[in-house]
Amino acid sequence: METVLSGIRPTGKLHLGNYFGAVKNFVKMQETHNCFFFIADYHSLTTHPKPEDLHGNVKHVLAEYLAAGLDPEKATLYVQSDLPEIAELYLFLNMNAYLGELERVTTFKEKARKQPENVNAGLLTYPTLMAADIIIHKADKVPVGKDQEQNLEMSRTFARRFNRMYKEDYFPIPQAFNFGEQLVKIPGLDGSGKMGKSEGESNAIFLSDEPKVIRKKVMRAVTDSGPTEPNQQKAEPIENLFSLLKVVSKPDVVAHFDEAYNSCSIRYGDLKKQLAEDIIIFTEPIREKINSLLGDETAISKAARMGAEKAHESARKTIREVREIIGFRPF
Ligand code: TRP
Repeated sequence: METVLSGIRPTGKLHLGNYFGAVKNFVKMQETHNCFFFIADYHSLTTHPKPEDLHGNVKHVLAEYLAAGLDPEKATLYVQSDLPEIAELYLFLNMNAYLGELERVTTFKEKARKQPENVNAGLLTYPTLMAADIIIHKADKVPVGKDQEQNLEMSRTFARRFNRMYKEDYFPIPQAFNFGEQLVKIPGLDGSGKMGKSEGESNAIFLSDEPKVIRKKVMRAVTDSGPTEPNQQKAEPIENLFSLLKVVSKPDVVAHFDEAYNSCSIRYGDLKKQLAEDIIIFTEPIREKINSLLGDETAISKAARMGAEKAHESARKTIREVREIIGFRPF
């Protein structure tokens, strides 16, 4: 069975874009693949979160993953920092990672521009840590978005380099993974771009948003002054609202508003009201589950411990073999 792996940095709440773009597929993949899903809290240190935030952020993502349907019995769901083996493999990979190639990575250049006061070595070696995450479990497939393609390419480089250096076909070369249908791109509410892309909180709808917050955000979404002639092409902000409608509403509802748009009788207020209510219907059970999990210390720690144990097993085996290959021998 193929091994699939994905990590998420615990830097914010999950929004509809995370759900429809990734998590929904993870829930399906856990039925058919050997899955590792983890919370990349080592990686989050590259932006220096406060110690008092770190644990809570990790806990929140864990609760959200569980609430969205990831099953710790089926998938291996764990916290990166529970596996010191990852840090060890990261150290080994760094010995064969070169400054020039690391400096050329776009996400590094972007981060360096965004936080010029904190261009730390962790930021530079972010791709080696990501490679360690992936190859420690000998993952075959990594579901990644466009923004992570170059990091994944670096993982392939490091895996190949290790195999070549030690003349052993040890690590599989991880490939990008598109599960089933093409990934659905969920737009934000500010008229352009992906949900969660811009910093403003009102651009994204979080799985944990209360109904009144959802209504407020949707009612404030950007629109235009309306179609002036039949079958007019929709401007991006309107297209975006329809994209959202398509993922949460019934097909006849979408058809109704499409028809209204094409005949110039649409009232955006009606569309938004409908959209908000359908988002609420969709997110409500997940939100309730998140809240109940956040209040249930035992359930969360049980899931985390179980994940750590399963993940440890495969990480420990890899590290034992890697040490052997590199030439470390116990006395
Ligand atoms: N870099 C990824 C992101 O920001 C998170 C991540 C860390 C990851 N390690 C990974 C993703 C390993 C896939 C595989 O989205």
